[in-house]
Amino acid sequence: MRIVLSVGGSVLVPGEVDVEYMRDAACLIVELSHKNEVAVVCGGGRLARKYIKAARQFNASEAYCDVLGIEASRLNARLLSCAIGEKATTSPPNDFNEALEALQRDKIVVMGGTHPGHSTDGVSALLAEYVKADYLINATDVDGIYDADPKKKKDARLFKEITPRKLMDIVLNKSVGAGEYALVDPLAVKIIERSAIKTIFLSGKNLPNIKKAVSGGEYKGTLVKK
Ligand code: UTP
Repeated sequence: MRIVLSVGGSVLVPGEVDVEYMRDAACLIVELSHKNEVAVVCGGGRLARKYIKAARQFNASEAYCDVLGIEASRLNARLLSCAIGEKATTSPPNDFNEALEALQRDKIVVMGGTHPGHSTDGVSALLAEYVKADYLINATDVDGIYDADPKKKKDARLFKEITPRKLMDIVLNKSVGAGEYALVDPLAVKIIERSAIKTIFLSGKNLPNIKKAVSGGEYKGTLVKK
C-alpha cells in the first residue's frame, strides 16, 4: 500500500521537542515502510505558533505568517528525517512531484508545508491525491473527529465514521488564520471529498493504534467515507 501519514505539530512538539516520541514514531514509520510506501507530512506545532505570534507584533501579513509556519513544519520534518535515518529523504521535498519521485526511489518521504493559505492537513490531502495513496492517516492530539471539542466538553462523542460533507459542515466556520487551523483544514476536506481518499483521523500519540489502522485491524479513530 501507499500511505500518507500526517503528523500534527502538536504531537511532535507539544512544548519542547518530544525526542522519545520522535524515536518511537521513527521506528514505527520504518516498520511500516517494510511492507508499504510511506510519506509523512509534519506539522509546525508550537514552534510555528511561537514565530507567528511574534511576527504579528511586527505587523506581518497573514501570508508571511504562513511562511513562518511552513518553515517551522519543514524544520520538524528535518528532525524526523534525522530520527528515521538513511531511508528518509534528507531535505523535505518542496513539491508533490519531488515527493512522488522520492517514493519511487523507495525513500520514506518526510516533508512539511508547501505554500501559504492552508495547513499541513491540506498538504497531506493533496499529496495523498497526487501520489494516489491507498490511505491518508491524519494523526493529531485527539482521538479523531468529535461532535464537540473533547478538550472542552467531557461528553463529546467520537464519530466512528463520517462523510466528507458532514465533516465540512463541522469545519466550515472554524478559524483558518495562520497557525490557527482548528480541527482540520477545509481544503483538506474538499480534496478528500473530490478524490474519495480513504482517510482516518486518530491520535498520533497512540502509535500501536496507528499500526492497527494501517494493517486493517480494529482501531480507535474516525474513518472519513462518502
Ligand atoms: P500546521 O499544519 O502545523 O498548522 O502548520 P495547524 O493545523 O494550525 O497546527 P497543528 O497541526 O494543529 O499543531 C502551521 C502553520 O503553517 C502554515 C499555516 O499558517 C499553519 O497554520 N502553513 C503550513 C501554510 O501556510 N502552508 C502549508 O503548506 C503548511
